[in-house]
Amino acid sequence: MPSPEAGFVITIDGPAASGKSSTAREVARALGIRRADSGAIYRAVTAARLRRGDPPTSWTEQSVLDAAAAVSLVPVTDSFEVRIDGVGIDAELRGPAVTAMVSRVAGMQSVRARVDSLMRTCARDVAIVVDGRDMGTAVFPGAALKIWLVADVEVRARRRSLEMRGVEPDDEEVARAASALLARDEADARQTKPATDAILVDTSRLTPSEQVDRIVALANERISSL
Ligand code: CDP
Ligand code: CDP
Repeated sequence: MPSPEAGFVITIDGPAASGKSSTAREVARALGIRRADSGAIYRAVTAARLRRGDPPTSWTEQSVLDAAAAVSLVPVTDSFEVRIDGVGIDAELRGPAVTAMVSRVAGMQSVRARVDSLMRTCARDVAIVVDGRDMGTAVFPGAALKIWLVADVEVRARRRSLEMRGVEPDDEEVARAASALLARDEADARQTKPATDAILVDTSRLTPSEQVDRIVALANERISSL
């Protein structure tokens, strides 16, 4: 299979904890191309604004946009590393403080424009897999392959809890995580819609490798028809 060239984009969108990040990472690895995570940029902008220390009630859109200037993306072997003030960050992005505020930040139109532009810059010179909510609609409407990932909310809650805590969650923990995911889905509803030409993949009863294999097969069909 020939390697796809710059301009070849695969979008993987869907609600919280539907499997976008892990799937995008493995699909990119299988195809030997880079991956960029738009959710990580929204999280980094939120983390950069949180670092200023004043309470979220005082955040204006302009102050968030100013904080966004500290966020950059640096190409590394198989992805784009998200940095704040030139320093790589990771655990901070997944923490509860960022998760609690990220939907509000993502609702700011000037911040969305900034993230869209960072994502398009990533795709300028290389073939890429991108994941988020609106990659196939607002950011890369001409993408070669668009995937819309879904999974039942209880399945998503169980997976996210296991991922965050490293132990199988009990029913109470699953219920708590499910209501947090539904609240974020609701807060993100405006930008969380499938493109009309997206292919729906329900991962509720798939293993990670099954969902990756399915998307890689679809990608290879697209690549061979280039
Ligand atoms: O991994 P999870 O689905 O929980 O979240 P994420 O992909 O890291 O995205 C974090 C937040 O960024 C989401 O809850 C949205 O508020 C926002 N987001 C967005 O608005 N548009 C995107 N393309 C990606 C993320
Ligand atoms: O990026 P997003 O929030 O959509 O999801 P993720 O962080 O990639 O996936 C949430 C968790 O579900 C990760 O720990 C995945 O390994 C796990 N998972 C999955 O994505 N698909 C399965 N079939 C089984 C588990």
